[in-house]
Amino acid sequence: MHYPTINDIDGRRFGPDEEAAVVRVLRSGHLWRVDGTEAPALEREFADLLGTRHCVAAATGSGAIHAAVAALDLNPGDEIIVPPITDAGSVIGALAQGLVPVFADVDPLTGCITAESVAEAAGPRTKAVVVVHLFGGAADVEGIVEVCSARNIRVIEDCAQAYLTRTKSGALVGTVGDLGCFSLQQSKHITAGDGGLVVTDDPALARRAALFCDKGWPRDAGQRTHLFLGLNYRMPELTAAVARVQLTKLEGIVADRRRVAAAWDEALTGSGWHVAPDGERHSYWLYPIVVERPDVDNRLIATRIAQTGLGASAGYLQRVLHANPFLTERRTFGTSGWPLTLSDRPAPSCPNAETMVSRTLVTVAINENFTDDHIARSSSDLRRIAEELEVPHA
Ligand SMILES: Cc1ncc(COP(=O)(O)O)c(C=O)c1O
Repeated sequence: MHYPTINDIDGRRFGPDEEAAVVRVLRSGHLWRVDGTEAPALEREFADLLGTRHCVAAATGSGAIHAAVAALDLNPGDEIIVPPITDAGSVIGALAQGLVPVFADVDPLTGCITAESVAEAAGPRTKAVVVVHLFGGAADVEGIVEVCSARNIRVIEDCAQAYLTRTKSGALVGTVGDLGCFSLQQSKHITAGDGGLVVTDDPALARRAALFCDKGWPRDAGQRTHLFLGLNYRMPELTAAVARVQLTKLEGIVADRRRVAAAWDEALTGSGWHVAPDGERHSYWLYPIVVERPDVDNRLIATRIAQTGLGASAGYLQRVLHANPFLTERRTFGTSGWPLTLSDRPAPSCPNAETMVSRTLVTVAINENFTDDHIARSSSDLRRIAEELEVPHA
C-alpha cells in the first residue's frame, strides 16, 4: 500500500494559507528578519502557545540548540550530559562551544536519558544537560531537573521531535528546563524546510540566545557593536511566515497522529511488543516499538514492516551517537581533537542504548494524513507481523 510521507505533499499540510504567506512576504520586498515582522510574530505566537515568556527563532533546530548552549555562557572544558540516541544536532553546538559531551545511558523502553543516568554521569565539571524527548515521548525531565538543580546544572530540553508532548505531570515539554528547543526541519511535525525555535522564561537567557543568533549585535540599541562571539543563525522572513501558518495546524496534526497510534496500540495489544506507554501525552514524531526477544532482531522486524509499504527503521540510528567518527576519531578542529582533549573521562558506556539501536528498537513512520483505509490496513499488517514473529526463529 502507498502511504503518505513527510517528504511529499500527500503527507504534509500545506495549503493556500502557506502560499499566501509566501506571496505576502515576497511582495513586501523584505525577506530578512532585521526590521521584519514575520519572525518576531512567530516568536510571540510560539511563546504564547507554550506559555513561556520568550521565544527566539533560529535558522535550524541545531542552531537553536547551539544558541541555547551559548546562552549559558560556559567555559571550554565544561561538561554537558547528552543522550546516545538522538540526532547529531543535539550535540554539535556544544562541541562548537568547547564543551565536552558526556553520554548518559537511556531507559531501555523509551530511549530517553533518565534522572538516574544523569545523576550517575554528572561530575564536578558538569554544567549542563541536553534532554531529548525522543520520537515525541517525554523524558522524565522533571526528575532530571530535580537532580540537576541540586548540583547547579542547567537543563536544555531538545524538543525537535516532541511538539505538544506533555510530561507525566502535564507540563508541555520545553517549558520545564531552563531552555527548550524545537526544529522546523522537513521531517518534523510542522515545517518550513528548516528552522528552529528556543523558548525560555529567563529574559537574560533569551537575550543572549537572540544576540548569539545575530553575531552578538544589539541592533535594537542602535549600535554596530559585537558584544560577544555570536554566529548568524537568523531565521528568514519567508521561513517564519510559513512556520506561522504551520503553527495553526499543529494541534490537529498531533491529534491525528495520536489517532493512528491509538489504532496501532490496540492492534498490538497482547503481542509482546512494547509500545509507548504514554499515548495520550506522546506526539508521535515516529511510532517506536521495542521487541525484547533473543531470537528476533530489529532488522528482521523493520524489513517485514517495510514490505507492507510503511516506513520502518531498525534502531533509528545506524550506530549510537558516540560511536560516530567525529567523536571516536575526534574529527573536530583540524588535528587538535579539541575540545574532547579537555576531558579525561573514559569512553562512554551506554549498554541500554547499544541494545536498542542494534537489537530491540524499531521505529515506524506515522503520518497525520493517513486515511481510515491506511489506518485499517497498517493496523492489521502490524498485528499479523507481530503474530508471525511469535513463532520462534532460529
Ligand atoms: C532530537 C533532534 N535534535 C536536533 C535536531 C536537529 O534539528 P535540525 O535538523 O533542524 O538542525 C533534530 C532533527 O534533525 C532532532 O531530531
